[in-house]
Amino acid sequence: MTQDYQPFKALEHAGWSESGVSHTYEAWFTSLTSQSIGPLLDAVGAGPGVRLLDVATGPGHLAQQAADRGASVVGVDVSPPMVEIARELYPAVEFRVGDAEDLPFPPESFDAVVMNYGLLHLSRPELAITEAFRVLRSGGRFAFTVWAPPNVARGFGVILDSVQAKGNPNVPLPPGPPFFRFANPDESRDALRAAGFDQIRVINVPQRWLLPNADALLEVYEEGTVRTRALLRGQTPEALQAVRAAVHEAAQAFAVPGGLDIPMPSVLSSGVKP
Ligand SMILES: C[S@@+](CC[C@H](N)C(=O)[O-])C[C@H]1O[C@@H](n2cnc3c(N)ncnc32)[C@H](O)[C@@H]1O
Repeated sequence: MTQDYQPFKALEHAGWSESGVSHTYEAWFTSLTSQSIGPLLDAVGAGPGVRLLDVATGPGHLAQQAADRGASVVGVDVSPPMVEIARELYPAVEFRVGDAEDLPFPPESFDAVVMNYGLLHLSRPELAITEAFRVLRSGGRFAFTVWAPPNVARGFGVILDSVQAKGNPNVPLPPGPPFFRFANPDESRDALRAAGFDQIRVINVPQRWLLPNADALLEVYEEGTVRTRALLRGQTPEALQAVRAAVHEAAQAFAVPGGLDIPMPSVLSSGVKP
């Protein structure tokens, strides 16, 4: 029986639709998630004349860089405040509110589809991959990134390890697909193949996150994410205090002059529609 992830979908939708989450996300994550943009655009051959769809576009940085390469771009995101931020930052690019699992485009409308850190927020990621396949023309390319596992993407690791050690990792949250599922290359390959893609490639993208201090790291996760924020908000006040102290301690491992330098690699998977 397929698991009902509707409450999870509602949590993600409601969270990203909070203006505060979108703005905090944009302020702190941009320097990091932007490091994946070049590799993603290379993977789909973005350039002049390419019709490119950026799914879960968020603040629209990737969409603008694709346009800078000469592509004809549409960005789509489920969150109205994200779409508003993207439109304000990049008024020359077309942005629409829409669901990755039910794309508002006819079949074969694009030469390239990309998704930068979108898949791990979806209740039915396979459906989003099938949708990407549907809207691509034959020969079109799809590429997406997700975070590497938390033992490697240490920003996540520091937060999750601290909850595990000092808080309650099992607060009641709507169940959703495993957050790090597509960090496993086999999972990505299988899902892409099942949707019909071939010429599948999975690569690691090394990335660093420079933050001023551990308070910034905590602020990002407490105010600028959805699932991890819900985990932190589910802690008792005493546990949250202990988790914060553990994060401060663990973050010292990444101290550099002026702040923190945290490894946050991603896993980039791509395929071609036959
Ligand atoms: C982690 S952010 C990534 C944003 C951007 N791609 C980037 O690289 O910074 C995840 C984005 O997925 C969007 N999102 C979540 N569920 C979605 C859905 N079902 N369809 C489309 N977008 C969705 C959120 O609104 C949010 O903008």
